Amino acid sequence: MESDTARTVDPLIDLRGAGRHYEIGGRTLKALDEVSLTVSAGEFVVILGPSGSGKTTLLNLIGALDTPTVGSVVIAGEDLAESSRADLFALRRHRIGFIFQTFNLFPGLTALENVRFGGDIAGRSDAAEAAMGVLGRVGLGDRADHFPHELSGGEQQRVAIARALVAGNPVVLADEPTGELDFQTGVQILELLHEVTHTAGTAVLIVTHNREIARVADRIVELSSGRIESDRPNEPADMAELHW
Ligand SMILES: Nc1ncnc2c1ncn2[C@@H]1O[C@H](COP(=O)(O)OP(=O)(O)O)[C@@H](O)[C@H]1O
Ligand SMILES: [Mg+2]
Repeated sequence: MESDTARTVDPLIDLRGAGRHYEIGGRTLKALDEVSLTVSAGEFVVILGPSGSGKTTLLNLIGALDTPTVGSVVIAGEDLAESSRADLFALRRHRIGFIFQTFNLFPGLTALENVRFGGDIAGRSDAAEAAMGVLGRVGLGDRADHFPHELSGGEQQRVAIARALVAGNPVVLADEPTGELDFQTGVQILELLHEVTHTAGTAVLIVTHNREIARVADRIVELSSGRIESDRPNEPADMAELHW
């Protein structure tokens, strides 16, 4: 699979009535009730919603970490419901960069090795050089040989972002990426994701409960009780104006 060809699939993300329902004790719990959403290459979208509104469940569906129990999820032209486990694995490798809320760095690998792992998984033959290049772009060129425990929370998050970006995949998903970070570092992270969207034509989706963070988006999708409450374009605020 070549990521570059995926960018020509439009929309890159296409959900129709997609939901994730759990049967628990004879009752149906709708972690995600029903969502219809399309996102194209080059869009910087914030999914805003309170805790428990279904943000992580939605992101996991878009990231092919889970499959819908109702409706359809089509990512870069691939319908998850019709995909085998091997197809889903390939989709995650070649189409999606996932930035987890808790970073999920490998403690025994250096910053550079963590990032390189992202390139290796995606099958980049130039993973070593690419990893160094992306580490430089997130401002950690001089921390390449440090282990995660030798880095601050913000630096660890930047390594996690570099790992998600090194594959050059067309969809980048971030679950509350600024959650644990101080304001200054959070703004740097958002600026970085914003730049990637506009320079590489990546579709970037950030989920957050923080209304202030949503102001940086080109588009804000509000989620409430597993449904989209509103979906509107947004004039991105100057990062310097943000406060949280
Ligand atoms: N595996 C699961 N089994 C049962 N309920 C779940 C599961 N995952 C999430 N939920 C429930 O679905 C709702 C949405 O969860 P989640 O997507 O994690 O929300 P958010 O990320 O917006 O806080 C919550 O009420 C949560 O408890
Ligand atoms: Mg969540």
